[in-house]
Amino acid sequence: MKFANMQATSYNDTVVRQFAIMTVVWGVVGMLVGVIIAAQLTWPELNLGIPWLSYGRLRPLHTNAVIFAFGGCGLFASAYYVVQRTCNVRLFSDKLAAFTFWGWQLVILLAAISLPLGYTSGKEYAELEWPIDILITLVWVAFAVVFFGTVGTRKVRHIYVANWFFGAFIIAVALLHLVNSAALPVGMMKSYSAYAGVQDAMVQWWYGHNAVGFFLTAGFLGMMYYFIPKQAERPVYSYRLSIVHFWALIFTYMWAGPHHLHYTALPDWTQSIGMVFSLILLAPSWGGMINGIMTLSGAWHKLRDDPILRFLIVSLSFYGMSTFEGPMMSIKTVNALSHYTDWTVGHVHSGALGWVGLVTMGSMYYLIPRLFGQKKMYSVKAIELHFWTATIGIVIYIAAMWIAGVMQGLMWRAVNADGTLTYTFVESVKATFPFYVLRLLGGLLYLGGMVVMLWNTIKTATQGRSVEVQIPSLTAHA
Ligand code: HEM
Ligand code: HEM
Repeated sequence: MKFANMQATSYNDTVVRQFAIMTVVWGVVGMLVGVIIAAQLTWPELNLGIPWLSYGRLRPLHTNAVIFAFGGCGLFASAYYVVQRTCNVRLFSDKLAAFTFWGWQLVILLAAISLPLGYTSGKEYAELEWPIDILITLVWVAFAVVFFGTVGTRKVRHIYVANWFFGAFIIAVALLHLVNSAALPVGMMKSYSAYAGVQDAMVQWWYGHNAVGFFLTAGFLGMMYYFIPKQAERPVYSYRLSIVHFWALIFTYMWAGPHHLHYTALPDWTQSIGMVFSLILLAPSWGGMINGIMTLSGAWHKLRDDPILRFLIVSLSFYGMSTFEGPMMSIKTVNALSHYTDWTVGHVHSGALGWVGLVTMGSMYYLIPRLFGQKKMYSVKAIELHFWTATIGIVIYIAAMWIAGVMQGLMWRAVNADGTLTYTFVESVKATFPFYVLRLLGGLLYLGGMVVMLWNTIKTATQGRSVEVQIPSLTAHA
């Protein structure tokens, strides 16, 4: 009985620790696969003629590993950590929380096996076949129960804004997954989508864009709203703005999906709606970015010697950059140039490496030492090194893709006076080669930084020990 009481007075950090460690591990794995496919695009023979090393199979392995394994584990770790600290209560259910950890790792493992074997539903970012989809649903329902159960049993009246973002992320991803993955199974690893033709495309990109909005953005904004004020030791710049930011963002994202389907069989007015909502989306996105960055007002000097804060703040500048670029690319005439080119890939990675990657790394650098009873990471110099290799890597990656993308777009549309094409497709591929080499270099730097983080994490974990943190009394609220 005494032991049970003691449990209830401490946070459940076991599951946070597990997810935090796996964030770093899957980060290395997912980025390594990214580097491999970047090398294959440069020198295609690197697939060695082996089907499961072919580009078409490794590419979804990369996207699934970085988004759902690296990003996903980071989101689980931070949501569980933040909800306990801001609600002054232990997680609602230890058993369900443990189930989400092991269940999610199983999903990742099954993805890592089934994708190289060639099993895919063919829907981007939702490639996994139906039995794995069912497992995802179970894990997600458990996640929702643990998270909202914790909020429901909170000891603080107010629900801190980070929890609103985590909550929206959990609900929206459940909705997206259930609707988009609806399918008719015809075998253990084969199914057909419940939708056909243009409706299938519409549902897929409603899903795809909101995967960006809710998986790759809302949850990470939850991280931002907790870890930036904590690391900067200052309150959020404007709490009122954070509420406007929340409602405006979640309302607007839902309608922007058709910008992925410009100039397709989708009705024209639908494409225009997608474009208009994408342009509107600039406002809440920048509102959030400004709120995060301005949290540092009066404490800018901290950026000089705090590499963790630098990770967090620079992530916001990339967030601002990609959420400016996205609305521009959603303008139909701009999209006519950018679509199908590496400009899209550059945009993706300024968001993915710059925003999602850096904010996750910064948050994990905050969390990991605390989870192992340490004041700071084993090596602060290594964090510094990681920051610079990652930042330089991102800049090389996205600059190469922007130049390559605009060049490709212009080459493809160039026509001679007699109406024939000026360039063959192969000429554009040849012209892209040096930029693919540069992208590979940028990717290697980014991966190198992640390997340094893994080393630093192992050192910190082995030097420290798993600690049990007592829930402070309400008057000393976290
Ligand atoms: C070392 C770091 C990385 C490298 C070298 C890398 C490389 C690549 C390559 C070569 C592609 C295929 C591009 C194409 O089809 O033309 C790709 C796609 C993609 N990567 Fe990465 N990547 C890295 C990190 C990440 C991270 C951390 C994320 C997410 C958090 C991410 C998300 C994506 C997405 C969403 C796509 C699909 C893009 C699209 O369909 O337009 N990548 N990556
Ligand atoms: C205001 C915010 C944003 C808007 C309006 C926006 C808009 C767009 C547009 C127009 C495209 C190109 C669609 C096409 O030509 O096929 C695109 C692609 C993409 N964006 Fe964004 N973007 C935004 C922010 C972000 C952020 C922050 C991320 C990442 C964290 C991101 C990830 C992606 C991905 C993964 C794709 C490629 C999808 C694919 O074809 O596979 N976007 N976005």
